[in-house]
Amino acid sequence: MAMEIAATGRAVPEQRVTNDDLAKRIDTSDEWIRSHTGIGSRHIAGEHTACSDLALEAAKQALSMAAEREGRTPEAAALSLDLILVATATPDHYGTPSTACLIQGRLGAAEAAAMDITAGCTGFIYGLEAAAGLLAISGARKRALVIGSEILTRFTNWDDRGTCVLFGDGAGAALLEKTTAPAEGPEKRGLLRTILGADGSGAEHLIIRRGGSRLPYKPGETVDIPPHIDMNGQAVYNFAVKAVTGIIEKLLREEKITIDDISLIVPHQANARIVQAAGKRLGIPEKKFFLNIEEYANTSSASIPLALDELNRSGKLRRGDLIMTIGFGGGLTCGGNLIIW
Ligand code: ACO
Repeated sequence: MAMEIAATGRAVPEQRVTNDDLAKRIDTSDEWIRSHTGIGSRHIAGEHTACSDLALEAAKQALSMAAEREGRTPEAAALSLDLILVATATPDHYGTPSTACLIQGRLGAAEAAAMDITAGCTGFIYGLEAAAGLLAISGARKRALVIGSEILTRFTNWDDRGTCVLFGDGAGAALLEKTTAPAEGPEKRGLLRTILGADGSGAEHLIIRRGGSRLPYKPGETVDIPPHIDMNGQAVYNFAVKAVTGIIEKLLREEKITIDDISLIVPHQANARIVQAAGKRLGIPEKKFFLNIEEYANTSSASIPLALDELNRSGKLRRGDLIMTIGFGGGLTCGGNLIIW
């Protein structure tokens, strides 16, 4: 049975920092950042906001959207959840508790199981497939909330201009449920096909080195900078262009469709140049890709659900549209979904 995205939500911190704002603090410029990445600004969470705070806001929005349609309260919609998955590389706490458990408690989703997924910027794509599988395996489970939420700016080395200009904070949520639509014909909808991939041999290219069991905090050690993302930008760039082209080709081939059947591609928003390079290689016009990186920068696992909510609420997704998501990131990981909206 197919699973469909029945509602969406998002949360973005109020504080907006432009490239010009950054250029006052570090050796960079609006011209360099825009020409190398397509980024114009990023939103940065206040010091008292953690991953679960943004995730909770996005979750509430998605539940309100569903509750309004169903004529019940958001609290009742929260009680209808069987599962909460949070994709994040920047959880409130390392190890335990999961950010998903914090959301479960704060929503009062008493019937829901909860866990986190770590798959870098591909986390939401992994999350959708994992949730769909867990719903499919049990007749009793009907609804899952899949959230991507990140506070990347707290794991950013602000002395490294090669990475600190890239990241922003945000969250996006999707309510996934067993569809009542027919399995075939023009009214068919839901998650059609997913590809997931990983290349752990590239783990070093995108890594938070300190803070885990490999390099834990040691009493008496002097450490000037907090745990932060180290990135080999060129290696990640090359992996990303290959991943985007490979996944688009594979999804089209496996589903026996062409790019003309796709209404919109929603890629992970890491760098507009990655998307442009992949589009050029495959001869796909730029307008086929949805990009909002100029406003939000790279919000990792939040970027795809955040974009989906923006498209959904602005009426740019119509029922029956065939859309494709494409992700790549730390791990290294990559993946994509084909979804009939
Ligand atoms: N401002 C000004 N100059 C800069 C900046 C900056 N912010 N950053 C780097 N430069 C300089 C460098 O010092 C270098 O100068 P030099 O030639 O004098 O030595 C020059 O610009 C070129 O630097 P490169 O690193 O070669 O720049 P490149 O064109 O490769 O772009 C970038 C760098 C944007 C990081 C690119 O490699 C990229 O996008 N990589 C992929 C990143 C990505 O997709 N990450 C996704 C995953 S993130 C996650 O999972 C959390």
